[in-house]
Amino acid sequence: MTTRITIRKPDDWHLHVRDNEMLKASLPFTAQKFGRAILMPNLVPPVRTAADADAYRKRAMAVLPKDTTFKPLMTCYLTDDTDPDDVERGFKEGIFTGVKLYPANATTNSAAGVTDYRKIEPVLARMEKIGMRFLIHGEEVDPAVDVFDREAVFIERRLIPMTKKFPGLKIILEHLSSKIGVEYIRSSAPQVGASITPYHLRHNRTDWLGWGNRPYFYCMPVIKTEHDRLALIDAATSGDACFFLGTDSAPHAVAKKLGVVGAAGLFNAPVAIETYAQVFEEQGKLQNLEAFASLNGPRHYGMEPNSETITLEKRDWVAPDEIKVAGPEERALIYRGGEVIPWKVIQS
Ligand code: NCD
Ligand code: ZN
Repeated sequence: MTTRITIRKPDDWHLHVRDNEMLKASLPFTAQKFGRAILMPNLVPPVRTAADADAYRKRAMAVLPKDTTFKPLMTCYLTDDTDPDDVERGFKEGIFTGVKLYPANATTNSAAGVTDYRKIEPVLARMEKIGMRFLIHGEEVDPAVDVFDREAVFIERRLIPMTKKFPGLKIILEHLSSKIGVEYIRSSAPQVGASITPYHLRHNRTDWLGWGNRPYFYCMPVIKTEHDRLALIDAATSGDACFFLGTDSAPHAVAKKLGVVGAAGLFNAPVAIETYAQVFEEQGKLQNLEAFASLNGPRHYGMEPNSETITLEKRDWVAPDEIKVAGPEERALIYRGGEVIPWKVIQS
């Protein structure tokens, strides 16, 4: 039995760390164990321009130790009137890694997202031309579409036409959540790749709703059936180049999670790489963890993998329940808080 594994340092291709006190409380968990992370731009107000992203990156670096080797990668929040010239300038100056599409109102802080897909075509054409990545929250928000079908309908209605119109545009379908999505990614690679979260790998909707409503399982895209989960497990642990790590760790203050309209998102950064390791071990696929966590993502983004390493050991530890957040947010609960986690990072 493998009791210790050393892999290239992983990257998190989908991370929310918010701003101000929440940024301070949450980003260090990722910076300790990951080489790079794509910081999602859904702040209030959103990170819309290269200047916004440059300022946000500085705020992120300011909460980390001076000698950190961690690198935040910035994204541009796409709106109906994003300026292609600003996007190109931000990319060429090394500020933006990619552009992020939120369909308006699909998830947390997405009200300023895209409402008219024709209006974003000049930005997509520019990104295709300059080789910039397009990150997609792939859910159709037409109220006639059932929430469990949002990903599948988005693929049909929006994504397939986009890939045909912009065949040179490299895309990431983020937080893949369905069997239909897995099949689509396999058929559209290498143009489209997908990130997969720890919680879509570990839970189904019965865990969420079957024994009381457990609001901490609420996230977008919603956790789906066991059938979907098994397809995601198979995809992630296959080592196939089109699937890679993206935690979607998304801290919310307890009061917002438990409000009458509860916020979508789970804070999993403190246990993320450990949880992936557990899933891969349970499948007898630890040998593919490095491809999923540390190699496939950089390749899809056209970057080199990290040269540093991280070592995990089979050793029980108990995940902390929560993080304290200064100011009005007070605290955010941690995914798997209080649970015994069978893998521990011993070097990073
Ligand atoms: C994310 C958040 O809280 O910002 N929430 C979530 O449910 N995943 C946004 C997102 O990625 O959809
Ligand atoms: Zn997210």
